[in-house]
Amino acid sequence: MDRRNFLDLLAKGTSLGLLLKLSPLGMLEFVQAQSSANPFRRALLVDKAGSPIKLNTLKPHEPFVFAYPFAATPNILVNLDVELTPVDVRMPDGSSYRWPGGVGRRRSVVAYTSICPHTFSYAAPTLGAMGYRQPEGGRGPRMVCCAHLSAFDVSRGGEVRGGPAPHALAAVSLEYDAARDEAYAVGFLGNPQFDAFFREHNQALRGLFRTTARAREEVARATTIPYAEHTRVPTTCPVVG
Ligand code: FES
Repeated sequence: MDRRNFLDLLAKGTSLGLLLKLSPLGMLEFVQAQSSANPFRRALLVDKAGSPIKLNTLKPHEPFVFAYPFAATPNILVNLDVELTPVDVRMPDGSSYRWPGGVGRRRSVVAYTSICPHTFSYAAPTLGAMGYRQPEGGRGPRMVCCAHLSAFDVSRGGEVRGGPAPHALAAVSLEYDAARDEAYAVGFLGNPQFDAFFREHNQALRGLFRTTARAREEVARATTIPYAEHTRVPTTCPVVG
């Protein structure tokens, strides 16, 4: 993946000198920040038995979790029960990317990383700092990070609605097979910040996965389970924004 992105950037005219000045770790983050769509290995969403998830079976506003692209990086999948149209998401540096809206028969299913772009709290198995909140009152559907109360509008590409998060929640790019009503995760839109996440949680991930290599193992089939099964200790906090 790194090599392919490196070659892509060269093809787009990025200076070889600039790329070579960056450390290998720094280069990956540079690549992710520059790219509106970060491709990773394509992974079919499946249930615990290994059968493909049928998107029309997802009950509205019931969040699910699947690890992708790495074993230790959970994402949240949810059916928002309304058709979701594309949105241009702006980043702090003035760049933007187009979030394509929902997938599924009603275009109502979305997925986002659970890694908060503020200081990388996430839906850990041991503590669910990031979670889904269904619409209430005049507020739309949100993902909320209880660590410092950042809120993200998941009907609009993960735009920040409150709190200290510096930019939108990265969205999982979902490829929809309409004939089968199944979906593949194929990458991310925005900046998922995986390297910063692995640096921040290095010790804790070793506790969960025993080795960093296991935590960073790429997922070939994305097992999708209810949020409550994945995160045994959800957190609660007010929704700001
Ligand atoms: S880590 Fe999520 S708001 Fe601070």
